[in-house]
Amino acid sequence: MNHPTDPHKMTQASTPVGTHAGYMPGFGNDFETEALPGALPQGMNSPQRCNYGLYGEQLSGTAFTANPPERTWCYRIRPSVKHSHRYEKIDLPYWKSAPCVDPDVISLGQYRWDAVPHSDQGLTWLTGMRTMTTAGDVNTQVGMASHIYLVTESMEDAYFFSTDSELLVVPQEGRLRFATELGIIDLEPKEIAIIPRGLVYRVEVLEGPARGFVCENYGQKFEMPGRGPIGANCMANPRDFKAPVAAFEDREVPSTVTVKWCGQFHTTKIDQSPLDVVAWHGNYAPYKYDLRTYCPVGAILFDHPDPSIFTVLTAPSGQPGTANIDFVLFRERWMVAEDTFRPPWYHKNIMSELMGNIYGQYDAKPQGFVPGGMSLHNMMLPHGPDREAFEKASKANLGPDKLDNTMSFMFETRFPQHLTPFAANEAPLQDDYIDCWTSLEKKFDGTPGKK
Ligand SMILES: [Fe+2]
Repeated sequence: MNHPTDPHKMTQASTPVGTHAGYMPGFGNDFETEALPGALPQGMNSPQRCNYGLYGEQLSGTAFTANPPERTWCYRIRPSVKHSHRYEKIDLPYWKSAPCVDPDVISLGQYRWDAVPHSDQGLTWLTGMRTMTTAGDVNTQVGMASHIYLVTESMEDAYFFSTDSELLVVPQEGRLRFATELGIIDLEPKEIAIIPRGLVYRVEVLEGPARGFVCENYGQKFEMPGRGPIGANCMANPRDFKAPVAAFEDREVPSTVTVKWCGQFHTTKIDQSPLDVVAWHGNYAPYKYDLRTYCPVGAILFDHPDPSIFTVLTAPSGQPGTANIDFVLFRERWMVAEDTFRPPWYHKNIMSELMGNIYGQYDAKPQGFVPGGMSLHNMMLPHGPDREAFEKASKANLGPDKLDNTMSFMFETRFPQHLTPFAANEAPLQDDYIDCWTSLEKKFDGTPGKK
């Protein structure tokens, strides 16, 4: 079937019965999907001649010998070598890669930004990407970057892929379509998408202007966290992750492909759309996830657990339990703990925490951390509730309390995060953020039993 609102009329596979139209459920499944009947070879990967005259091609997301391997077999109108010609370098000055350490920028500090405003300038997914922080090293495939995107224009006959990274996209405003080699993902606030390394796509604006957050993961892919003693249910459930069904277009128009490679951008000119995969099977695919399906687990008698209980996805580093990136969600939930200071406690953390607000109010910071805004609490820098949050939570009459109208997230990484010049000088940095703790009072006077 064709997608009813697809401006490019990609020919899309029918959806298996019982699932969301256009998507297939399950995290990391070995999917198979075909947009034309009989396009997908059965029982083998590489027949002597593929149906419809298609070319077979493998996309490897892990080394051949990784266990388990992640790869997808594509059956396409042209092999990808036809979608890659001579390259020339281009400049996208606001999209930075690690290491990006500016001697004039101080990254040591607690920082918070208002939402980056839209400008009058027309911006695409590529020109509208604004890097806020970088961590690690893109060339050695460790670390990450965080970005804000401001998108008002669709990519026209223009395509992109990143060899450096997979992208975790967190919309905050507007709706985008990711038309990829492996199918179509439509994305809106309260959803996230993962675009794997190497996958070619274009981004269209379905409803603009669009703003959101991106975590660019240079390292090992995001996976679901182990639930440990929680068991087989709650947190994110595998069935709520959705990969798109196959969709392709057969369009012969002059087009450009932009490639991010080792932190630099290059373009190549081709004569057709590279979104020409008619059928595919495999477990290396883009997917989306509805954050409203995240089932939080929390304190049901006393104390405040570590925020790791809210991990949606984790990208491991070489050190067990110490993530390259954790993606953590703070959403609506009931607070019921007794005789407990319920908001996040004061702390210092070896991990570096970058937060963003999707909507509503965050419990540790009733004011100032606004939708579209971000905050950064870098490696081992102290932070916690402001005075208003502390006083309110210390004196509250504790009964069951619904924390409502709130959805924030954290990109937490084992590597220190460096501010870009844009984050330090151009983005709406709140100069007075550090003052939110100034008015915290000394309450101690040596009197035992004082509370
Ligand atoms: Fe923290």
